[in-house]
Amino acid sequence: MSTALFYGTTTGNTGDVAEKVQQHLGDVELFDVADSPLEILESYQKIIFAIPTWDYGEVQEDWQEVWDEVDQIDFSDKTLAFIGLGDQYGYAEWFVDAMGMLHDKVVAKGATIVGHWPTNGYEFDESKALTADKQFFIGLAIDDDCQNELSDERIEQWCQQVSLEFA
Ligand SMILES: Cc1cc2nc3c(=O)[nH]c(=O)nc-3n(C[C@H](O)[C@H](O)[C@H](O)COP(=O)(O)O)c2cc1C
Repeated sequence: MSTALFYGTTTGNTGDVAEKVQQHLGDVELFDVADSPLEILESYQKIIFAIPTWDYGEVQEDWQEVWDEVDQIDFSDKTLAFIGLGDQYGYAEWFVDAMGMLHDKVVAKGATIVGHWPTNGYEFDESKALTADKQFFIGLAIDDDCQNELSDERIEQWCQQVSLEFA
């Protein structure tokens, strides 16, 4: 059964990452939250949410539009993975915060989470997207602003990990 990847993107970076993830994972359908109703999620068991952080720890604008709707969805039979885009040097106090905020909502609605990603190799002060032990992000952190040269390898490795964890 295929995986649904919902993404929001303001300047295109998260959309580009979504397409690369689709290429690596194969059986993935892409949905831009700007024009895809969240009801589509009901028919998927494996879901990836991709979200950039904007404006000092805020949720990207298209995700903001559906923010309250996410709370109405029952995720208890679903497995989710997260991708967060951010800028660790420019916004070091809020690095990929929106990914953590979205994660917390979905966990509250019963989701199983896969795709934790080590914080090694990143430099930032604070993030709302960390596991309790702060050794991992709760999903893949991509920084196309400061570490663009690392993005493709990170995406490829994370996809290998997630395809095993989804199975
Ligand atoms: C005005 C502005 C505010 C931003 N605020 C944050 C932030 O608070 N935290 C963060 O990690 N990244 C922040 N970023 C970086 C974006 O998340 C990053 O550029 C991302 O790749 C944009 O993704 P998109 O092209 O899919 O919209 C900000 C960027 C801009 C231009």
